[in-house]
This record gives sequence, structure tokens and C-alpha cells, in this order.
Amino acid sequence: MENINWSDLTFGYMKTDCNVRCYYRDGKWSDLEISDSEYLNLHIAATCLHYGQESFEGLKAFKGKDGKVRIFRMRENALRMLSSSHGIMMAELPVELFEKAVLEAVRRNIRFVPPYESGASLYIRPLMLGTSAQVGVNPSKEYTFIVFVTPVGPYFKEGFKPTPYAILRGYDRAAPQGTGTIKVGGNYAASLVAGDIAHKKGYSAVLYLDSKEKKFVDECGPANFFGIKNNTYITPESHSILPSITNKSLMELAKEIGLKVERRPVPVEELATFEEAGACGTAAVISPVSRIDDLDENKSYVYSKDGQPGPVCVKLYNKLRAIQYGDEEDRYGWITIV
Ligand SMILES: Cc1ncc(COP(=O)(O)O)c(C=O)c1O
Repeated sequence: MENINWSDLTFGYMKTDCNVRCYYRDGKWSDLEISDSEYLNLHIAATCLHYGQESFEGLKAFKGKDGKVRIFRMRENALRMLSSSHGIMMAELPVELFEKAVLEAVRRNIRFVPPYESGASLYIRPLMLGTSAQVGVNPSKEYTFIVFVTPVGPYFKEGFKPTPYAILRGYDRAAPQGTGTIKVGGNYAASLVAGDIAHKKGYSAVLYLDSKEKKFVDECGPANFFGIKNNTYITPESHSILPSITNKSLMELAKEIGLKVERRPVPVEELATFEEAGACGTAAVISPVSRIDDLDENKSYVYSKDGQPGPVCVKLYNKLRAIQYGDEEDRYGWITIV
């Protein structure tokens, strides 16, 4: 513990002191339990293992200059987990229980929240699993909910530097009427092959197009997409992208700094008109897009030639980080102080 080099943290996993768990049986959730084990004892026929009855969330806690630890928009993650439960027929986890478990996991691992100066944070990973034995395709009767935490550095090793993305029409992460709007493991399994191809070619991630017609922009692998032009923040509206809490926050902040905000279908051709572009999410915060290469059509859209993020991306990034670390007043009620 004394040896953690906070500034060198990557987006990885490190053992902390404990995790928090609770169980759904006979129609109700148990009290929270604290476990110091990193392992689970699971039935070999558990529905999470065979039929993908698994959902998760990702949020962060930040230590401020004042030493206080702030959790960002925890309630939004609780609500999104409820929507994931509805989407794959898992037990509903009450928002209050989600929040209590997250707070407990952070409090008990408070010594793992990286110091303010490091620019790192504590990543919080709630997850829910269907645990009862089924060999027919049916929802589980029992569920386990776990919250673990781990200190993390930047998602991309480049940090806040523009990186390239690729369009690959041969792959979809979610079906048009499928599970793209919820946070379930299957979507991520479905994205691994395309992600690997993109990484091997030197891209940060795939920029997915809508899986029905390939006419509109969906999202950037594990992050939402936005473009900036004519003083406007433009982000795709789609039936197959995850409603990013970071994106929702950036839309508010964009208005605050005087931009117009448009959430609507974004045709692929419109990529040629943006002055700046970015990927946004809890892990990456804002990851500016340097260039999008459409590998099927042999076209490139360039947003940064000098390796620097554009001015609007910088402003939004600084504003969001300032709220998260407590450098700027939380006018929106996004922060829970631990
Ligand atoms: C597919 C996908 N899109 C977008 C996001 C960004 O969402 P958020 O800002 O809530 O982290 C994530 C990460 O959670 C994701 O996995």
C-alpha cells in the first residue's frame, strides 16, 4: 500500500481491503455484507455464466484539495442499473441500496482514493449476477450484487491527448432493437473482436455506426461520441447507444459555457463538418479524437493536426474535472461527499 505510485496508475485492477455484497433470495434483498475475498462461489449452472444475466456500472470517487472524497452522479448509475435489470429480467435493485453499497465500499477503502495532485481517482464497479441454476433459457430466481473499487489512472495511456478512431462496418456491438442502451456484459463481449482489430491497427477504439443501415454515428467503443461545430455540441441520438452519464453532464456544461446543444441522429457525412470531436465516458472523461479513418470507404476525417485537443474540448474537460475534484462549485447536485 505504501508503495503505490499514484501518478503511474493505469486503468487496471488492484486489490483493495474489501468489497460489499448483497443477495436477492425469496423475492427480497439481504443486508449488505463485507467481504475481503476477491472470489465468488458460483453454481456451475448459474444464469450469469451461460445466458449472460450480468450487468455492471462504472463510476468514480475523487479526492479534492480539501481532502474530501466526492462521488460523481451515483444516483444516475443506480438508475441505469435498474434499466439494465429491466432489459435482461434481473431483480430490481433499489436506488437507496445501490447508493448505500457504493458509499460503504468507498468508505471502507478510503485509503485507496488517490491524492488530489496525482490526477488519478477511485474507480467503483458495481455488478449484478444471476446466480441460480438453470439449464433452460430462463431468468434466475436469485441474484448477487457486488461493489468493488480500485484506484485508476487514465483510461488511455496518452491521457488528455487526441487519438485516432476507426470505422469498421463489418462489426456491430449491439442490435438495432437489442441491448445497446443497457450496460450488460454481452455488449462488451460482442465488441472485443472489432476492438482488437482497431487496437492492432493503432486506433484507440472503433467508432460504431448504427447497426441497421450504417448511415448514422453511434458511439466510440466504451464511450459516447460528440462533435463540435458552429458553437454547437452535437451528440448522436440512437436506439443502440449507452446513455452516458458523462455525456449528459457535458451537455449541461456545454450550455453553461454558451454552446448550443443538439442531440439527434448524426449522419456519417456530417463527420466532415466538425471542428472538433471527442469520446466521453467515466473512464476516459473526454478523449479528444484526432482523426477518424473510415477503413471501408478509404476516407479520413481530421480534427487535430498538431497533436493538441481543440479549445472546446479543453474547456469542457477542465470544467468537468473541476466539479469532480471539488475545485468548482457543484451547482447541479452531482456530487455526494463521502
Ligand atoms: C458502451 C459505453 N458507452 C458509453 C459509456 C460512457 O458512459 P458513462 O459516461 O456513464 O461512463 C460507457 C461507459 O460506461 C460504455 O461502456
